[in-house]
Amino acid sequence: MKRLIKNNVSWIGKVDWELTTFHGDDYSITNGSSQNAYLIEEEKTVLIDTVWSPHDKEFMRNLEKAINLEKLDFIVVNHGEVDHSGALPFLMSKRPDLPIYCTANAVKSLVGQFHHPEWNFNVVKTGDSVDIGNGKSLVFVEMRMLHWPDSMATYMTKDNILFSNDAFGQHFAVEELFADLADQCTLWEQAIKYYANILNPFSPLVAAKIKEVVALNLPIDIIAPSHGAIWRENPLQIIEAYAKWADAYQEDQITIVYDTMWEGTKQLAHQLAADLHKVSPETTVKVYHIGRTDKNDIMTQVFKSKAIAVGSPTVGQNILSSMSGWMSFLTELKFKKKKAASFGCYGWSGESPKLLSDQLKAAGFDVVEPMARVNWNPTEEDLGQMMAIAEELAK
Ligand code: FEO
Repeated sequence: MKRLIKNNVSWIGKVDWELTTFHGDDYSITNGSSQNAYLIEEEKTVLIDTVWSPHDKEFMRNLEKAINLEKLDFIVVNHGEVDHSGALPFLMSKRPDLPIYCTANAVKSLVGQFHHPEWNFNVVKTGDSVDIGNGKSLVFVEMRMLHWPDSMATYMTKDNILFSNDAFGQHFAVEELFADLADQCTLWEQAIKYYANILNPFSPLVAAKIKEVVALNLPIDIIAPSHGAIWRENPLQIIEAYAKWADAYQEDQITIVYDTMWEGTKQLAHQLAADLHKVSPETTVKVYHIGRTDKNDIMTQVFKSKAIAVGSPTVGQNILSSMSGWMSFLTELKFKKKKAASFGCYGWSGESPKLLSDQLKAAGFDVVEPMARVNWNPTEEDLGQMMAIAEELAK
């Protein structure tokens, strides 16, 4: 259903309350999400993006209720990922001549996914613009790696709307559409989770892009992302948050992540939490069992932390498989300027703390000594080792 955003600009996307995962099952969705597409009806009629393919029929029904499809002058594809381009094949089957404005990389992703090299692609780059009548135009800004190499944003002059695609979004279903009407606690929780789990690896590019956009000195009244709430009251607040998050973000928090076989490593985790609180009472300390906690939620806490401690018992001369998968994800997210420590119990060979230390170093963490390597269940003396780790992490 078409809903007014400003003047001749409407939202025409899908509020996806039922969505529970994203990127396959790699990203957990706990408050729904949305795929935001936008319809501009100036002298030219323009569509910005579409929705995910399971919603293509509903999307096309809504679009055909809103306009005569023959009136559509062109579509802007800000990003080829299927959550935004999924309804494109259906649309193109009805309007095979429709011009598609996108980056050169987006042509690659769209042809790679949908196998229609004959579509009417119009390649654009940063600074290119298209007149849409009524004294307004669309200006394109490449947004490489926010979120794919093909991503771009589209700025609408006069109405001062930045259609930012994935950047500044959240996986959050907001029926009211606007950020100022959304539950603020969930909004910011989802915005930081989205940044930590999806955009953090590209933080250096985010920082550079924000500087570039600010330098353009464009008035921005609305930031309309492709997921979640639309920022219309003080829209710069989300740009300011991104600038902060992109700069090796950390709070006064230390997060402990562990898995355990027979509770020995769990005892070490809880002793470390208690010792951290003793040495630094003002620091927020959080403890997560990796096998029982959503991995994206833990990563959000890692993102907020100045230091982490990771524990696994030794099994088969290795770490637990739950921890191996999580460590691989941790490496992918490329956190910067955070300390880390490792710990773990063992019965026979005891490789796990050293393996964890090596993996943490490879993931870019500043690993502190000592590590805690405890044979069988911890004694009082073993538990006493955790204080030295707490002191190093809290320093
Ligand atoms: Fe929302 Fe990168 O797709």
